[in-house]
Formats: sequence, C-alpha cells, structure tokens
Amino acid sequence: MKNARAFLLLLCGVTLAAPAFAAPDESQIDRGHRVYDKWCFPCHGTGVGKPGTESLAARGQKPAVLEERTDLTAPLIKIFVRHGVLFMPTFRKTEISDADLDAIAAYLTRNNKH
Ligand code: HEC
Repeated sequence: MKNARAFLLLLCGVTLAAPAFAAPDESQIDRGHRVYDKWCFPCHGTGVGKPGTESLAARGQKPAVLEERTDLTAPLIKIFVRHGVLFMPTFRKTEISDADLDAIAAYLTRNNKH
C-alpha cells in the first residue's frame, strides 16, 4: 500500500514536470536572455551609454541593438564572444560556459527567418 502511494506520487510528479520538457527551445532562449542581460546588455543594450550599440550605430549597422537583429548566426556570435573585437573583451569559458553561449546564440537568433 505504501509503495503504491509512492508510485502514484511519482507518477503525478512526472506528469506535472512534463510541460517543462515539452518546450526546450523556450527555456534555452530564456536562459540566453538572462546570460545576455548580465554580460552583453551593458554594452549592447538600448539607451545611452551603451558603447557596443553606439559603435555599431556609428558604422551604419541597422538595427544597432543586437537583440533586434535577424541576421546574426550562432557561429558568428560565438567567434565574437570568444575572440572579442575592438574594445569588446574575450569571454572565457569560466565566465560564459559553452552551454551559456549556446543559449545566447539561441536568444539572439530567435527572430531569424530560417
Ligand atoms: C565592453 C563592451 C562590450 C561587451 C561587454 C560586449 N560587447 Fe559585443 N561588441 C562590442 C563592440 C565595441 C563591438 C564592435 C562594434 C563595431 O564593430 O563597431 C562589438 C561587436 C559585437 C558583435 C558583432 C556585431 C557586428 O555586426 O559586427 C557581436 C555579435 C557581439 N558584439 C556580441 C556580443 C555578445 C553576445 C556579448 C555578451 C557575451 C558582447 N558582445 C559583449 C562591445 C562589447
């Protein structure tokens, strides 16, 4: 009897947890958004005093805010993050893990057409 109850509780737990696994892309994008806000937004965000956005705007990049782009690809994003450019620093794996970088790429390519 005790075991049957434990089994039922387990079954309920699995059923309740199922929706979380049904949309892995969504949670990946959410995770990317969080990591992006921490490491990238200070330079690439909207508003004044965002040197990355200002630098891209000065080069004529439209839109200058990375989150509004639909032309960035995951490999390109990874190259910039791991190697830096101009005064954008190199991010090491101890700062941004490969999994976090995958999530950032998923977030920044979420609106791409293909
Ligand atoms: C200290 C400021 C700074 C931070 C932090 C920063 N960047 Fe940058 N980023 C720049 C600058 C400056 C450029 C070059 C702009 C230019 O070419 O005029 C750039 C360029 C890029 C580009 C290339 C865009 C293009 O079209 O050429 C990508 C992609 C990019 N950054 C992604 C990121 C991501 C993702 C993060 C967070 C992990 C990040 N950056 C954090 C300053 C920063």
